[in-house]
Amino acid sequence: MKIISKLSKTVTTTHQTKQMTKKINWGIIGLGKIANKFAADLQLSNNAVLYAVASRNEEKAKAFSEKYKSTKFYSSYKELAANPEIDVIYIATPNTFHFKNTMMCLKQGKGVLCEKPMGINYREVDTMIREARLRNLFLMEGIWTRFIPATKKLLEILDNKTIGDILFIHADFGFKADSNREGRLYNKKLGGGSLLDVGIYPIYLSLISLGIPIDIKAMARMTDTNVDGYCSMLFDYENGAKAILESTIEANTPTEATIYGSKGSLKLHKQFHHSEKITISQNDEETVLDIKHKGNGYTHEIEEVNSCLLNNDIESSKLPLKISIDMITLIDRIKEKIGLKYETKNSD
Ligand SMILES: NC(=O)c1ccc[n+]([C@@H]2O[C@H](COP(=O)([O-])OP(=O)(O)OC[C@H]3O[C@@H](n4cnc5c(N)ncnc54)[C@H](OP(=O)(O)O)[C@@H]3O)[C@@H](O)[C@H]2O)c1
Repeated sequence: MKIISKLSKTVTTTHQTKQMTKKINWGIIGLGKIANKFAADLQLSNNAVLYAVASRNEEKAKAFSEKYKSTKFYSSYKELAANPEIDVIYIATPNTFHFKNTMMCLKQGKGVLCEKPMGINYREVDTMIREARLRNLFLMEGIWTRFIPATKKLLEILDNKTIGDILFIHADFGFKADSNREGRLYNKKLGGGSLLDVGIYPIYLSLISLGIPIDIKAMARMTDTNVDGYCSMLFDYENGAKAILESTIEANTPTEATIYGSKGSLKLHKQFHHSEKITISQNDEETVLDIKHKGNGYTHEIEEVNSCLLNNDIESSKLPLKISIDMITLIDRIKEKIGLKYETKNSD
């Protein structure tokens, strides 16, 4: 899909010249842990400028701006979104604010890269996508895994049937989170729990490898804050394939993924969602592929957004919004199985 109105500051005539001269002005909203990693990686992209940052706290915004050299800083998310110089805004707030923050930016005419999960239920994600399409604006979910070089290689290997037909997948993602009950990982009001935080990654791997399952089984260990501390999922596919997926915020687990096929297996090494090493095993032979990514790994996603905006595309063909719909549909099915419900204005 194409953007009809051109980027505001594009003055060059040919598409090629525009690509050489135009830089994308980024804004960041919510200056926490991930915003820091992202801002560092923005500096590695030739086409990106960190134009403005916004925090609820002015001192924090100023310090962040000085650290990553943004032109402007704001103590109001709305004021940042109103700045006409900005092309795209990265939303790095807790899960339950993605909907509100993204809708506000879209209404200000800005493209959005929204951290995963795009919303906490289907209704939110669907509304966000409709709003972006209505306004002809770029929108993408921050599933950075899609743009990691190892994922490109993985898709090639699966496409070439190097390991044959997929029989089953085993993927886990677990880490022992800070036990602060008010922090975003345990706090239900902030969209806490392992499924929305890291369960997303095994689910995404199964989606790009096997598609949508016909049946899902899921079980969770709930925390005293009533979010899933551990979630175990079993996906069943029409062709008989299975995916065994796990997520947790209560323990450090291998965080690896192995895809078993009829002709061999493939392992994405720790941290599998931004792996730099793939091992292919066939008969008794192993081939190890070292595939590095830039910086913290977010530059590849940043470059995809830059490229879409420079091409006037409102959607990434590599990570289309249909994937965000499929993801949240699967997540909602799992939430229902494990009895996890978030209370927001846009309740499930
Ligand atoms: N792609 C990835 O690899 C990755 C990794 C980690 C997290 N994430 C995602 O990124 C998002 C943020 O995660 P994070 O680890 O950066 O979280 P974090 O360190 O807690 O930062 C979140 C920021 O959101 C802002 N915020 C706005 N309203 C808030 C509220 N009521 N309570 C707390 N913070 C509020 C705060 O920024 P201000 O104080 O500056 O306003 C805060 O610093 C989550 O959606 C998460 O799923 C993605």
